[in-house]
Amino acid sequence: MDLGIRNRRAIVTGGGSGIGYETARVFLEEGVRVMICGRNEAKLNMARGALANATGGEIHAIRADMSKEAEIVRLVDAAQAMLGGVDILVNNAGTMYSGRFSALTDEALKLQLETKLFGFMRAIRLVYPLMKAQKWGRIVNMIGGAGKEPDPYMFGSGMTNSALLNLTKSLSTEFGEDNVLVNAVCPGWVDTNLWRMNAQGLQRELGVQSDDDARRIAARKNSLGRFGTPAELANAIVFLCSERASYITGVSLNLDGGRLKSLW
Ligand SMILES: NC(=O)c1ccc[n+]([C@@H]2O[C@H](COP(=O)([O-])OP(=O)(O)OC[C@H]3O[C@@H](n4cnc5c(N)ncnc54)[C@H](OP(=O)(O)O)[C@@H]3O)[C@@H](O)[C@H]2O)c1
Repeated sequence: MDLGIRNRRAIVTGGGSGIGYETARVFLEEGVRVMICGRNEAKLNMARGALANATGGEIHAIRADMSKEAEIVRLVDAAQAMLGGVDILVNNAGTMYSGRFSALTDEALKLQLETKLFGFMRAIRLVYPLMKAQKWGRIVNMIGGAGKEPDPYMFGSGMTNSALLNLTKSLSTEFGEDNVLVNAVCPGWVDTNLWRMNAQGLQRELGVQSDDDARRIAARKNSLGRFGTPAELANAIVFLCSERASYITGVSLNLDGGRLKSLW
């Protein structure tokens, strides 16, 4: 299927690894021109090189910390300078704030809110006028299942995620008349660095001895009985950003192998 987005211009935040990296790869395969960002310049440059080699597409990378407003401005300015505009924004940069209420500090929550809630909102504030002017835009926010189904172990992420779901739905309503579509993706467990960083905490939470046991128990909650892969996430994200998804807005798509059992 031709997704109809050849030559469109996309920003993928946190594109240096994991889900963001795979999303950039699929965009490039579709002929989209891509800008990725992250905090670690060396990692980012390696990712840019690997993506260029693998796809032959146009890929740019800039160091930008999405928890810092001035760096988000720099990112969007660079995208405008190098790509000539922005048609697609995938708000993906972020981490996971796992642990129960007693483990969460104000500082950790503030950083999470700066990165995901304010980071996503500030990036949208900058790209929306560009998309509105051309009457075409796609925004996808990477959120997470704990925003829909509170889980004591995901206390910090859950609060941020619920706010982001509200933001997504509200902006989808407001931007609809401009043909700027705003959707959310809620991953379950996906096999990335983030999962590996979180594995020890989950091991303790589940009272098991090894990463493998933690993974097995966590995966058992999914209907499909396994973790997702970054590529599986990327395929759906790119579809939501495509011409083929022209009537989809305000949706929060669970990409979790059937983990959430509720009706939304
Ligand atoms: N994996 C899962 O199971 C899962 C579940 C639910 C939600 N998610 C969400 O999915 C998104 C992608 O995560 P992932 O699993 O692909 O993890 P990942 O492999 O760790 O990728 C996250 C990327 O974001 C970048 N990043 C983190 N903080 C940043 C910041 N402040 N500014 C700019 N870039 C930043 C990281 O690069 P640098 O370190 O170089 O900045 C990294 O390349 C995240 O928003 C995460 O919350 C993932």
